[in-house]
Amino acid sequence: MDKIIVEGGRALQGQVKISGAKNAALPILASSLLTDGTNTYANVPDLKDVESIKLLLAHHGARVETVGDTVRIDASGLNNHEAPYDLVRKMRASVLVLGPLLARLKKARVSLPGGCAIGARPINLHLKGLAALGARIELNHGYVEATADELRGAEIYLDTVTVTGTENLMMAAVLARGVTVLRNAAREPEIVALAEALNRMGAAIEGAGTSVVTIQGVPCLHPVAVSIIPDRIEAGTFMVAAALTRGKVTLVDCAPEHLGACIHKLRLTGAEINIDGQTIHVEGRGRIASVDIKTQPYPGFPTDMQAQFMVLMSVASGLSLICETIFENRFIHVSELKRMGADIQISGNSAMIKGVPSLSGAPVMATDLRASASLILAGLIADGQTVVNRVYHLDRGYQSIEKKFARLGAAIWRQK
Ligand code: EPZ
Repeated sequence: MDKIIVEGGRALQGQVKISGAKNAALPILASSLLTDGTNTYANVPDLKDVESIKLLLAHHGARVETVGDTVRIDASGLNNHEAPYDLVRKMRASVLVLGPLLARLKKARVSLPGGCAIGARPINLHLKGLAALGARIELNHGYVEATADELRGAEIYLDTVTVTGTENLMMAAVLARGVTVLRNAAREPEIVALAEALNRMGAAIEGAGTSVVTIQGVPCLHPVAVSIIPDRIEAGTFMVAAALTRGKVTLVDCAPEHLGACIHKLRLTGAEINIDGQTIHVEGRGRIASVDIKTQPYPGFPTDMQAQFMVLMSVASGLSLICETIFENRFIHVSELKRMGADIQISGNSAMIKGVPSLSGAPVMATDLRASASLILAGLIADGQTVVNRVYHLDRGYQSIEKKFARLGAAIWRQK
């Protein structure tokens, strides 16, 4: 298994290009199943999770072609309604084929995604919504088996704000007969990006980005060419790295309008942030002020930035409180950070962080995607060498992260 080695102590300087968003690419590539003909997707990030969904779509019979960061998918040959365990277990977002398969083939057999390190991550709300649209849902042998004579529009209230739940139901509803209203829908930029792609395909979706999304079913859709929006979590990760190392970093090709909560909180820590169109300049200052955060659905502070921000607070000048409200087990990175000298106490879904003057490099273990990123960040400022093991977690969601950090002056390399 690959390792990433970091020698701490370098201030990051220079420019980094932000890649396309993993969490926009996954649902948009899945939406290709909704139509015949070739969809063209630009600015697709080169990630393990994107490879996984391309494999899955090909398994369903789609023709998938990748040239650089452009992916072309033609689902005219869609001939398999089953998403097998060995593909779904690699990436739980595979559940995003459920809605499109049901809309297009009126049947789907998708392996239930298990839990993962950060939580149980059930899909009960996805299934409840599909049933409301007229699907018959059975759970057999670890698979969701869904069939429908016809999908009909419905009023659906989502008990919990769910990103992929909202996406799955939007994709199931676009070809349903009649109007579907999703209430308490997720408002993430990735939801808006999916709705825009679907509307470009001929769908009639209104309200994406608000908590009430209305989908007027249409008889069919047509192929589309879209570009994937920038990854706001990758951008947030590099912004924290700049503040953390007291560096001066310019992020290009990003979407500052998607980073409101992160920019607001980073400014409160004392970082200087200037926005210029699709470019963000971040300059770290000597002193890092302690700031409390509470993760919330968008536009609140993103849970996917919690671990990264915790590293910044671990060397801040006082006490900070981090409350994780989205997932029940998203403090796995804490034990590794404590091995590097961080002073963190967990109580339920809250962590109290007492800033320390510095961290010390150590061999650490990555457990989930964003926790892995936080260990790289800790290594950038720790005294001595940090070895991050099991970096396949990182490769799922960050495109060549060590190369991007090395280009910014970090002493970081990958060891096969
Ligand atoms: C999406 O996961 C993202 N993944 C996650 O990013 C992100 O952390 C999460 O949204 C929250 O923003 C993708 O978009 C591919 P949820 P998702 O459904 O959709 C509960 C990363 O690092 N829930 O919004 O799976 C659930 O348990 C990943 O890129 C139900 O109870 O998250 C959680 O507590 C990690 N029943 C809460 O809702 C359901 O049917 C939010 O989960 C669905 C969800």
